[in-house]
Amino acid sequence: MSTRPASALMVARAMAWAEVQGEARVNPCGGDARRRLRCRDVTTLGTVSGTTGVFIAFEGGEGAGKSSRARTLAQRLRAGGHEVVLTHEPGDTRIGPQVRHIVLDVSSEGLDPRAEALLYSADRAEHVGSVVRPALDRGAVVVTDRYVDSSLAYQGVGRGLGVDAIVRLSAFATGGLVPHLTVVLDVPASIGRSRLAGPADRLEGEPDAFHERVRQAFLDLAAASPHRYLVVDATLPVEHVDAAVLDRVKELGLP
Ligand SMILES: Nc1ncnc2c1ncn2[C@@H]1O[C@H](COP(=O)(O)OP(=O)(O)OP(=O)(O)O)[C@@H](O)[C@H]1O
Ligand SMILES: [Mg+2]
Repeated sequence: MSTRPASALMVARAMAWAEVQGEARVNPCGGDARRRLRCRDVTTLGTVSGTTGVFIAFEGGEGAGKSSRARTLAQRLRAGGHEVVLTHEPGDTRIGPQVRHIVLDVSSEGLDPRAEALLYSADRAEHVGSVVRPALDRGAVVVTDRYVDSSLAYQGVGRGLGVDAIVRLSAFATGGLVPHLTVVLDVPASIGRSRLAGPADRLEGEPDAFHERVRQAFLDLAAASPHRYLVVDATLPVEHVDAAVLDRVKELGLP
């Protein structure tokens, strides 16, 4: 299929994303590529993001289960005695609801894709600066429902702006903050959308072909950096999904 070469390209670009976001800017391991790789693979808490807390992102298409599975993980970690900040993008800051309204409301139909990408980045910059970084700095576990990969997948690939442009934008917005673990909940677009109640927002209303491109982009990002990702078949019963997530989170040193 014609998606193969595009996927290979995506993988290469995703590796560049890891370079720009993580190692090159904030990884205290620094040094040459081999040393950096060793540092990453040790999975020492704080290595990837340069902070003392633990940063976990849930990603995936519409209705994949991001919000509900993130909530369950947060509950389990809290029961284990951790301070957990459960948060989401776009919108979970003081100014965030206004940005969320602009990007997702159907009244923004026809919004220029670059404007869309910049609005998501602006929301993310505020989110990282006012919520995520402070929580990580005091040693909390931050669980976010969507992060940079959503922009790479939706704006970079879905809207066709190119992953390179979104990598640069995201690096600026986040100051290079990379999650220790990104959970990709993978579900066919049609199944994910069938789970959603209520009227579709502006992004949910895009055609299935758009959402399948987005889905493939998430999988390509995960394939490029398997040590930082967990892909879960989100058509499985929720108990299976939650168990897979918890098993992987334990590898980060959390109960
Ligand atoms: N593995 C699963 N199997 C069946 N239903 C599920 C599964 N995971 C989540 N759901 C259900 O699907 C619906 C959508 O889940 P949720 O809101 O968590 O998805 P989401 O990825 O956050 O969606 P959105 O893209 O709209 O934010 C909810 O009713 C949830 O209970
Ligand atoms: Mg949700």
